[in-house]
Amino acid sequence: MGEHNLAEILIAEQEIQARVAELGQQISTDYADKTPFIVAVLKGAYVFLADLCRHLNVLHEVHFMAISSYGGRATQSTGVVRIVMDLPASPEGRDVLVVEDIVDSGRTLDYILRNLHTRNPTSVRVCTLLSKPSRREIQVPLDYVGFEIPDKFVLGYGLDFDEHYRNLPFIGVLKPEMYE
Ligand code: PRP
Repeated sequence: MGEHNLAEILIAEQEIQARVAELGQQISTDYADKTPFIVAVLKGAYVFLADLCRHLNVLHEVHFMAISSYGGRATQSTGVVRIVMDLPASPEGRDVLVVEDIVDSGRTLDYILRNLHTRNPTSVRVCTLLSKPSRREIQVPLDYVGFEIPDKFVLGYGLDFDEHYRNLPFIGVLKPEMYE
């Protein structure tokens, strides 16, 4: 991205890669006798998922859900979410691991968890790369957290600004004047 749009690099590529490897090892240990049914939330989770699953040494399935907010948003959730692409397979009786890129207000994840629990999974855990605890509006259970971050507009490593910059290998912070 043009450097003029970027205020800082919050989490460097090497730091992300090291933490993702740790998460993968922890998940592999915790699911040693299970075959997790991964539910990755599009679009933001696709980069994290691709790296995370290569650090898993347990058999696992990867499925996708796409979630959207009514009304669109640039920098924050509108709070109303809906499924725009549902799972192709049932998680009933499965050990579900939800993979997210970021938990902000918690509204998206709360919706997903409520929805998944209606489908009778054996267990549900959550793995998110990023969490912004200061922005939480709904408390959601997080089992694996890569990094807790301050309330800044972050992008890269799957996270976008106006659908761009998901490919950056680091987590950057957008200059406030870009969205204010
Ligand atoms: C982001 C992110 C989470 C959600 C978190 O998705 O991937 O799903 O926002 O925000 P919340 O905790 O306030 O609900 P977004 O709607 O930006 O879509 P994207 O993943 O396609 O970029």
